[in-house]
Amino acid sequence: MAKTTIRYICQNCGAESLRWMGKCANCGEWNTLVEETVTKQEQHKRTWVKRSTPLRLAEISTEDQPRFSTGSGELDRVIGGGLVPGCLGLIGGDPGIGKSTLLLQVAGKVAEESGPVLYATGEESLAQLKMRAQRLGINSQELTVVSESSADQIADLIREKKPKLVIVDSIQTMFVDEVPSPPGSVGQVRESTGRFLQAAKGTGTAVLLVGHVTKGGSLAGPKVLEHAVDFVLYFEGETHTSFRIIRSVKNRFGSTHEVGIFEMTETGLQEVANPSQMLLAQRPTNSSGSVVVPCLEGTRPLLVEVQALVAPAHFGGPPRRQTTGVDYQRFSIILAVLEKRCGYALQNQDVFVNVAGGIRLEEPAVDLGIAVAVASSEVNRSVDPYCAVIGEIGLSGEIRAVRGIGQRLQELARLGFEKCIIPKPNVTGSEPLQVVGVSTIQEALAQTIGSRR
Ligand code: TYD
Ligand code: MG
Repeated sequence: MAKTTIRYICQNCGAESLRWMGKCANCGEWNTLVEETVTKQEQHKRTWVKRSTPLRLAEISTEDQPRFSTGSGELDRVIGGGLVPGCLGLIGGDPGIGKSTLLLQVAGKVAEESGPVLYATGEESLAQLKMRAQRLGINSQELTVVSESSADQIADLIREKKPKLVIVDSIQTMFVDEVPSPPGSVGQVRESTGRFLQAAKGTGTAVLLVGHVTKGGSLAGPKVLEHAVDFVLYFEGETHTSFRIIRSVKNRFGSTHEVGIFEMTETGLQEVANPSQMLLAQRPTNSSGSVVVPCLEGTRPLLVEVQALVAPAHFGGPPRRQTTGVDYQRFSIILAVLEKRCGYALQNQDVFVNVAGGIRLEEPAVDLGIAVAVASSEVNRSVDPYCAVIGEIGLSGEIRAVRGIGQRLQELARLGFEKCIIPKPNVTGSEPLQVVGVSTIQEALAQTIGSRR
């Protein structure tokens, strides 16, 4: 017998509550609880359950798991070497960033190279899909498309046709009949994902789900989804620029540090052979507040431009602090270190920091780049355009060592940089370009923009 109750479900962590609360008791986020009608079937009729036999690890064969390519070397690398049969993956990102484009390209390639593919769309009409496919030059006989929002229907199709790959675009448009709440709600997303998981594991079909990101920057019901799937990839980049980064945030089949770099072109997403060059193409030379940082994304060095603007704050309000692409907490610490250790007076100044190209930098190794950019803008003196900086800043203003310095310096040398300010402990004496080892932020500033006034 089915029983219907009202529950409040947190959009952030999926926790259930019997009454509405302003703050989720589980994850502590505010205003994330939404009302949902939950229908509970009489549960736990266990008569049908067949017990699984425990196996020794040695008895389990991994040989029947050959990976197959997505048709994109960059994407394969992010996933850990290609798709695994029976895997369930989630690709998230802002609307319009290119999720459908990428997955249609993947669908076309897999259909050509590996086997039948089903593209199920709950968002677009088949005619729209066809137009996009024509634009992308996709015309494989093995690619079938269906306009369908019922998770059960798609799961049945998977069991019946057993394609190599199924794309579900998007999970927020899918529904199952038993859940009374509308598509896109946590309950629907959770149940639909469950259906796809069962179908994928049961047939060995790889299933890729598209997920939209909500305003706050998280997938609707993200924890619910992230628990269930094998890997989660996020699209980064700004929709108005053509640069796109795909980052894995969870991966049961490989590392989570890898990124894939793409450019949105007239004919879909193309891999970028030389991302550092592309990122630095529009860099202003001899302009204060701009500095190049050799970042390391996974195993991949990437030269990015960090920009800062320090301008007098207007009277009447607190000075503005804004960052795009770097962590706000770290930025605040760096400003405090500049004020306390280097005598910069920023309390009456607006400070903005931006990473060119819409990339998000998470490693603390970019600290020194942020500090130098801010100081350079404040004193209005530019940094030598052929000099880069790298290093983590500690609270006493000390510069700490970073990982992978060799790769970072190689990339700088390859792109014609002449000099890099690096943490002293990282100096080896066999660098491919001139390096200056520094132990404190003061030394680093003296080397890049000279003494303060
Ligand atoms: P889309 O894949 O529809 O985004 P999502 O599924 O993440 O919402 O991408 C939409 C944008 O991509 C749209 O603004 C047009 C652009 N685009 C191109 O620039 N080139 C192309 O070949 C295609 C198909 C789309
Ligand atoms: Mg789309």
